[in-house]
Amino acid sequence: MNKFYSIAVDGPSGAGKSTLSRRCASAFGFIYVDTGAIYRSLGLAAYRKGINRENEAEVMAILPETEVKMAYDENGEQRMYLNGEDVSAEIRLPEISACASQVSAHARVREYLLEMQRKMARENSVIMDGRDIGTVVLPDANLKIFLTASSEARAQRRLLELQQKGVDTSFEQVLHDIKQRDKCDSERAAAPLKAAADSVLVDTSELDFEQSFQKLCEVISDRLNIERIEDRK
Ligand code: DC
Repeated sequence: MNKFYSIAVDGPSGAGKSTLSRRCASAFGFIYVDTGAIYRSLGLAAYRKGINRENEAEVMAILPETEVKMAYDENGEQRMYLNGEDVSAEIRLPEISACASQVSAHARVREYLLEMQRKMARENSVIMDGRDIGTVVLPDANLKIFLTASSEARAQRRLLELQQKGVDTSFEQVLHDIKQRDKCDSERAAAPLKAAADSVLVDTSELDFEQSFQKLCEVISDRLNIERIEDRK
């Protein structure tokens, strides 16, 4: 029997999956795995090569010369390496979000990246976030959470994040990008974004970060019957 716990967190972009999953992972002593960062790294590689990212064969062709690696630094933060170069910051740029969405639409690309994600869950207790974790990557996860929020609430949060990073943009632009990405992620043929039938739905539109965090901790504690590290005697 697998002695590790796995929690799948899926949902649209900007629902707070990564920040909340990271915080919950640390509260329960799990490893946080951000699978979007894998697609982003590949999206960046495709962008740099200047290939047609909507063409599956062209994306597949760069895979043999594209090494994407995930590692954790001394603070437990996930870092991404593209052919040995730390690209953790660059993959967050808005233009790379769109590239990630394009390369992630290809079934063979997704298949290629599957084992890397499953291996993490075989070897650790994980909270893994993405779009298809509960449906495809970890169908046997101990707990599946579908985290969502209205597109306006998500755009507002993303706008703040980008502004804090000094990116010059507007609410309308961010909302437009979010809707575009939602459409692309949920309408693609390969592993579209959808809630697993056995997932717990958590809508954070009306919740601030702290409330969302408390809500998720409750769901995790109740469903897995485990306590946060700070509550363990
Ligand atoms: O979660 P994110 O915004 O970093 O994800 C970037 C893109 O990668 C997003 O458009 C959807 C895609 N993605 C995916 O298809 N499957 C995953 N498990 C994670 C991300």
